[in-house]
Amino acid sequence: MTTPPNDITLSRRDLLAAGAAGTTALAVPRPAAAQAAPVPDANAETGVPTHQVVLHVNGQVHELELDTRTSLLDALREHLHLTGTKKGCDHGQCGACTVIADGRRINACLSLAVMHDGGKVVTIEGLGTPERPHPMQAAFVKHDGYQCGYCTPGQVCSAVAVLGEIRDGIPSHVSGDLTTRPLLSPAELRERMSGNLCRCGAYANILDAITEVAGVTP
Ligand code: FES
Ligand code: FES
Repeated sequence: MTTPPNDITLSRRDLLAAGAAGTTALAVPRPAAAQAAPVPDANAETGVPTHQVVLHVNGQVHELELDTRTSLLDALREHLHLTGTKKGCDHGQCGACTVIADGRRINACLSLAVMHDGGKVVTIEGLGTPERPHPMQAAFVKHDGYQCGYCTPGQVCSAVAVLGEIRDGIPSHVSGDLTTRPLLSPAELRERMSGNLCRCGAYANILDAITEVAGVTP
């Protein structure tokens, strides 16, 4: 049996050499603009990018040099030691980290501290004291709006902000008319509080507390 004629005859050595040449051709240097630019505020010792941040928290001014990746939640808990704000999921899903930033409630775990430079933040510690609690805090105590209490700071901050949202006429998913001020109804309160989870299931008592402060009939 004869071997068929072959126009191209490549040895294994030829093939490897061709592959190596191709790899070399691809390994061209990246254009200067595509290379990582030096970080201007990087800490000289650690190389970590940092930024000077001024936070007004509960009426006090704090100047912090923070890793730019620090969440507002970690800035509050780890740098300012305001541990009333809780870390539940750290993914924006439970509402345990709710604080009021410039009048609006936010999930502090989803917000970078540098985004609040110069801003005002109110945490559960800033709402009231054990001696002089905020009406919402007092209502949660009166109605047993908690069991383990882990979700409670977020629930209270959220509830305070919810009443403000309704007063300001901000509609929700269940608002019947987007052009008029929403009703202070239990349905509105339930919908607006739906981002604050309670693993203990204290929802009925939480709603009782909020409805008392809101002055609506359940
Ligand atoms: Fe922020 Fe759960 S800890 S939403
Ligand atoms: Fe325990 Fe809400 S009181 S999670």
